[in-house]
Amino acid sequence: MCGIVGYIGHENATDIILDGLRRLEYRGYDSAGLAVLNGSGVQVHRAEGKLLNLEKEVFRAAPKGEIGIGHTRWATHGGPTERNAHPHKVGQVLVIHNGIIENYDKLRKKVAKDTSRVFESDTDTEVIAHLMDHYLQQGRTAFEAFKKTLKDLEGSYAIAVLHEEDPDHLYLARCGSPLVLGVGESSHHLASDIPALLPYTREVIFIEDGDYGILSTDKVELYGEDDKAVTRPVKHISWDQSMAEKGGYRHFMLKEIFEQPEAVSQTLTGRLGKAHKEVILEGMEHLMPAKGFPFEKVYIVACGTSYHAGLVGQYLMEGMARIPVVIDNASEFRYRNPIIDKKTLVIAISQSGETADTLAAIQQAKKQGAKILSICNVIDSSIPRASDETIYTQAGPEIGVASTKAFVTQLTVLTLLALEWAGRTGQLKKADLEKAAGDLKRLPQKIKQVLDLNDEIKELAKRYTEVRSFLYFARGLHYPIALEGALKLKEISYIHAEGYSAGEMKHGPIALIDKGMPVLVLAPKEDATYEKVIGNIEEVKARGAEVIAVASRGDKAISERVEHVLYVPKAPLFLQPILEVIPLQMLAYHIADHKGTDVDQPRNLAKSVTVE
Ligand code: M6R
Repeated sequence: MCGIVGYIGHENATDIILDGLRRLEYRGYDSAGLAVLNGSGVQVHRAEGKLLNLEKEVFRAAPKGEIGIGHTRWATHGGPTERNAHPHKVGQVLVIHNGIIENYDKLRKKVAKDTSRVFESDTDTEVIAHLMDHYLQQGRTAFEAFKKTLKDLEGSYAIAVLHEEDPDHLYLARCGSPLVLGVGESSHHLASDIPALLPYTREVIFIEDGDYGILSTDKVELYGEDDKAVTRPVKHISWDQSMAEKGGYRHFMLKEIFEQPEAVSQTLTGRLGKAHKEVILEGMEHLMPAKGFPFEKVYIVACGTSYHAGLVGQYLMEGMARIPVVIDNASEFRYRNPIIDKKTLVIAISQSGETADTLAAIQQAKKQGAKILSICNVIDSSIPRASDETIYTQAGPEIGVASTKAFVTQLTVLTLLALEWAGRTGQLKKADLEKAAGDLKRLPQKIKQVLDLNDEIKELAKRYTEVRSFLYFARGLHYPIALEGALKLKEISYIHAEGYSAGEMKHGPIALIDKGMPVLVLAPKEDATYEKVIGNIEEVKARGAEVIAVASRGDKAISERVEHVLYVPKAPLFLQPILEVIPLQMLAYHIADHKGTDVDQPRNLAKSVTVE
């Protein structure tokens, strides 16, 4: 996720900005830049890759000034190159931005029509600088032009802007992406996150969505969505640096679990149409004509958690679009001599985009003539580069080794694909698609409600720190979530855990059950197999199992049959896997945390598995 830093005061802005960017490195980035302004002009420096590259540039030029902005970029629109790095300068306007400008293409056309503008980058951000410059040329003041620009933007953003001829003001705005303001002595700081502010001040103002304003050395002017002046409270922060990087959470994993509403919301951005009534997947036109589905089958390849996302995708695509889907672990696929040809669409799913087995599976599939669509979280990583088309999840960098927010955003993209294809195959009518798009739009809100279970799960987890084994079971669309819940637990707590389809229990695993054995069951009331799952619960209870059920809110009856119920909000079936996995992530997290294992970097595991 991009990092923003801004400073106005009486110290050397370059040093403060570089220091702030270093303190935001944990957010992940692939290029960086800064602009420093003084009475005689602005100096802009940008560099690909790590901050060290930017620092070398800056060291040579030694820009001087007491106002400046800096940025670390996590590429979304356009590759991680120097020309796509921020700040973007157009005329006298310099812009840094975190988020996604959904209507950037339309805005680009708008400014390109009125003037003879040249766009120098592939980013969605550059259009902000062009728009503001455009409004300045119409005779507006810098602040008026900034305000007018904000009115044109759709999507999410945290923005900081400098005007080359105005070294006394720094402009800021926030809508859906984080931005905090540090209040110093005769100085103000801006940042995407608190760690960048801590060496300078502990007095901060959390800018709210819809706020915009101007900073000078001794004054903060903020305005709300309705353009009226607002005052936001100044809060004192007592966190140390490491706590601040984790947003006050004990571990990155927990922080990332709590980031899931935003991650899903970002992944949906621009993909549900303006009125949130359709599914639009950019890039699909490179794989298929505007109508119909030209492939005979889909083959999904992935590893670990991404494979579990693929299993849910298989249920959704077959169930909703009636397209045959085969799925395989990438590590098996490559040695199977798989039956694929040019009538097969291969979907490769990978958070990191660097997993060696998945990459090898793609090469194999290409040799056999298949088209490749990847679902990935890291722009321009090896897997997207090897694919014909990529749909990016917008989870932001995931630091905890155990994948959480990347998984739910993979599920979100797979759901979008299944819906889009169901429209193409005529399995869903326009009205059904409109309803599904509306349900998706409301999904982040429901995820927030599931997160409210955290304290209850933290307490519950204490019971299981000493257990040797844990079983998870479910049926249908929920079965891959049982697999994922078990994987999360074993990865970070080192407790042996297995996921099974509930119907398979009596074909072997039930032999494991004895008194006190913990069994987690996914039992959503809306599912057609609910009664059968209840039957499976009775079977394990009769043999002494201690059952935790994840059930639909309002299902009171189930609480009489099991030891503990975790209720999730009601939702259409196709969205339930996303809601159900969250309590399982939290349970694994809290068991591991109570045990005291290294949650973010569990033994023997790596974030990106680049060897076979
Ligand atoms: O980066 P990828 O999604 O391709 O990684 C695949 C697996 O290595 C990964 O999901 C692994 O299972 C995680 N540690 C799960 O938490």
